[in-house]
Amino acid sequence: MKQFISVHDVPDINALVKKALMYKANPFADRSLGADKRIGLLFLNPSLRTRLSTQVAARNLGMEAIVFNVDKEGWALEFEEGAIMSGNTVEHVKDAAPILGQYFDILCIRTFPSLKNREDDYSEMFINQFIKYAGVPVVSLESATLHPLQSLTDIVTITESLNNGPAGRKKPPKIVLTWAPHIKPLPQCVANSFAQWVGVWGEAEFVITHPHEYELAEQFTRGATITHNQDEALRGADFIYVKNWSTYTDYGKVYENDPEWMLTEEKLAATNDAKVMHCLPVRRNVELSDEILDSPHSLVTQQAGNRVWAAQAVLSEILKSK
Ligand code: CP
Repeated sequence: MKQFISVHDVPDINALVKKALMYKANPFADRSLGADKRIGLLFLNPSLRTRLSTQVAARNLGMEAIVFNVDKEGWALEFEEGAIMSGNTVEHVKDAAPILGQYFDILCIRTFPSLKNREDDYSEMFINQFIKYAGVPVVSLESATLHPLQSLTDIVTITESLNNGPAGRKKPPKIVLTWAPHIKPLPQCVANSFAQWVGVWGEAEFVITHPHEYELAEQFTRGATITHNQDEALRGADFIYVKNWSTYTDYGKVYENDPEWMLTEEKLAATNDAKVMHCLPVRRNVELSDEILDSPHSLVTQQAGNRVWAAQAVLSEILKSK
């Protein structure tokens, strides 16, 4: 693997999932693979899970991990080609990225969308500029439109749950991605990425449910069944992925916050004893109820724990191809 920006960088999802689960069983199986190698983790936005799980994964492979909070500690970066830098930006990415490429063997970057200009966000300029100028493999720790390390973790968690379930299952699992209320406009990254990965994985019946006006970009949802009726979507579900996202068409807005869209125990009655997932952080009793998060239905802690093994599998594949 030369980089990890989306599912399209992964030749075989199931092989990568298997590798992640192998590392979960034996974290130090490749403890020398990254010896004398250094990984840089650049954050333009806050993080708990991504930041720490990627550091742990790198350490398990023998790499040194260095975190740099660019937004708080670095010079304000310019990303526009040909910019006349007479404003707030101090350093162009075409100057900074090649230097980082000399310091690090792998460069990992988290950026967020502005949620102001859809064309700019969906062009993925920030991460693409790092890819263009760094000269070393780049790993997305979440970009403007996608969160591939989260999505790999999600497939790992679903696979693990199925492996631990009853043997001899004949039907593919039914996975439902449901929109949930939130007080702030959030990116579409997690939902886009989850839809993209489940679609390419191709081993599930996949349904997306959301209120009117919350359609995701079609490029990520192709092949999914889309309904505005949450009750209908949840019927017979094996896994429910709960996530808020802001509007895509009239970009970056919160149109409604109907609390009826929050998942409750009562709604789970129509499912196949579904497991409930969320990428975290979660606003309790807004996005997801306490009664679900604190119940055996919830996979969120296991899911967040699996971030280490997903990151370790990705870093391992990149190290092996360097
Ligand atoms: N799920 C996730 O990416 O969490 P953090 O924002 O804490 O990294």
